[in-house]
Amino acid sequence: MHFVHQITSSDQYLKDYAASIENPALFWENVANEFTWRRKWDTVVDWDFDGPNVQWFKGGKLNITENCLDRHLQTGGNDIALVWESNEPTELNKTYTFKTLHEEVCTFAQVLRNYGVNKGDRVCLYMGMVPELTIAVLACARIGAIHSVIFGGFSAQSIADRVIDAQACLIVTCDVAFRGVKEIPLKSVIDEAMLQCNSVKQVIVCRRTHNSTIINTPSEIGWHEAMSKIDRAAAILQKAEVMESEDPLFILYTSGSTGKPKGVVHSCGGYMIWTHYTFVNAFQYQPGWLHFCTADIGWITGHSYSIYGPLLAGASTLQFEGIPNYPSSNRLWEIIEKYQVAILYTAPTAIRSLMADKHSLVDDYPMASLKVLGTVGEPINEEAWRWYHEHVGKGRCEIVDTWWQTETGGILITNLAGITPAKPSFATLPLPGIEPLLVDENGLELFGNNVSGNLCIRKPWPGIIRTTWGDHERCKQTYFSTYPGLYFTGDGALRDELGNYRITGRVDDVLNISGHRIGTAEIENAINMHPGVIESAVVGYPHDIKGQGIYAFVIYPGIDKDHAQLAVQIKATVIHFIGPIAKPDKIQIVTGLPKTRSGKIMRRILRKIAEGEPNALGDTTTLLDPSVVDDIISGHVF
Ligand code: WTA
Repeated sequence: MHFVHQITSSDQYLKDYAASIENPALFWENVANEFTWRRKWDTVVDWDFDGPNVQWFKGGKLNITENCLDRHLQTGGNDIALVWESNEPTELNKTYTFKTLHEEVCTFAQVLRNYGVNKGDRVCLYMGMVPELTIAVLACARIGAIHSVIFGGFSAQSIADRVIDAQACLIVTCDVAFRGVKEIPLKSVIDEAMLQCNSVKQVIVCRRTHNSTIINTPSEIGWHEAMSKIDRAAAILQKAEVMESEDPLFILYTSGSTGKPKGVVHSCGGYMIWTHYTFVNAFQYQPGWLHFCTADIGWITGHSYSIYGPLLAGASTLQFEGIPNYPSSNRLWEIIEKYQVAILYTAPTAIRSLMADKHSLVDDYPMASLKVLGTVGEPINEEAWRWYHEHVGKGRCEIVDTWWQTETGGILITNLAGITPAKPSFATLPLPGIEPLLVDENGLELFGNNVSGNLCIRKPWPGIIRTTWGDHERCKQTYFSTYPGLYFTGDGALRDELGNYRITGRVDDVLNISGHRIGTAEIENAINMHPGVIESAVVGYPHDIKGQGIYAFVIYPGIDKDHAQLAVQIKATVIHFIGPIAKPDKIQIVTGLPKTRSGKIMRRILRKIAEGEPNALGDTTTLLDPSVVDDIISGHVF
């Protein structure tokens, strides 16, 4: 497959960038023409950020799976679409060609249809990293059902919150998921969540083991049993649902600085264009390359660069069920050698943990097939960048530091592998269509270079968030109201003398733990559910491997209570209400929190204490009771 819009030189980058800003409609229309549409659009883009109301390719009709799958069948469909590597290195891998993946997707789409799932209905997927997850995602898209993947590490309560918010009618899950030495009992978590979820009419359970009893009620059925009832030949002939460009493709819940996670909604046409365009350009994908994204499909990176981006480009995508350090920290290198991976896309947290492992034999693996290395999810420190470059890439692979968010659908700021220069710890330059700007606290634009500020984007790109599910106002408040007329990212950034961007981290109350977003308010709400807890305040602190760790200050009266034991219980409470990813690393039981006279917690002070810098607290005179600070500094941490 030839990509008409792949940028092949730095000159072309400059030209395409200029063209995309000058006439976005013309630029994206040309890109969109590369795809299969059932009907071409009437208008390329229509937007205002006050609504917000963003519409790309209005009037256009398509089905994204025809672009991911059917389009690649014209040449026989025998190229590899998906390679699956088990958690256990000894278990046989699985491969799907575009043809066999198409068949599985069509068959499961028919299963969904038979259960009455219609266009626009929501389907939640709570599964491990098995090929059936990708099949289920695409099957939903095939029939126009809106998929909402829930990461396998979330608790029953988190699942229930999402399922209820989305009013999902069907859930696909697995009996268990394997991750390293852990066996996660997904189905029993679903059983618990279902006690609260009245909208769900059917649960489909994919068996990962051979010995579990998983089917408890008539509204549950095994994946393989359901699939075996379908006439496959007939299913393949069923037409994909014709979707409007702006119909929702999926909902993905993500944490913000307030309240419960919100359902970020992406639409069919724009998301398709954006994931494909960014995939072939950032990584400079070449036909025949094997692409290995280590992200779980429960996160946006898995959606955009393990499924949609690569498949749209006709690339082979490698999905790995396990974790980088099981059974040893050589696992990724083993996989790269075994399959001859060309692109490795992973998170700084994984790089740092492999770098820290003294037993890692990375230098013993030549990994000659590697061409491009990618990083995403959090700022990468220069030391990790250099280690990645020298030890994994042997100094000959390009590194792309890709900055983006769940809300952006795909990469917005990155160097283009081998085309535009990399700079360690900088995401560097915007992709065509992206106009970043920095503003100060008052929303005034900071011009010139060598400035730091809050990162905003000026105009819509095809992959931008369309709404937050069921609550458009929240979308407006969160992203489009802080600085009217602009999309606000929630990140801080610095622009260097050449116009390169370095993302410095969140400027709101959102933590980034191992590349996963969690709002401090969400963790506090969970902690406060613990009986006896009066109030809590959660802040982040620098963590060598995870980037940030979670530090919770908790007010709990009753001096007789064993604080160590209490800390264990509070951690269990957080796991119960959110899941293990939100478990505080440190808990300190306190008698009071530093508050202003108006009752606002001064997080700045808590952050300094958590960072181990109690002498750099700054002005504490505005506190209602400055003595609580001394108490906290002299207290114990568990
Ligand atoms: C952070 C993940 C620095 C950032 C795709 C953003 C990054 C949040 C980078 C989004 C990067 C992502 N350099 N920081 N290359 N990529 N981030 O929604 O703070 O899970 O706002 O999307 O991750 O996280 P999300």
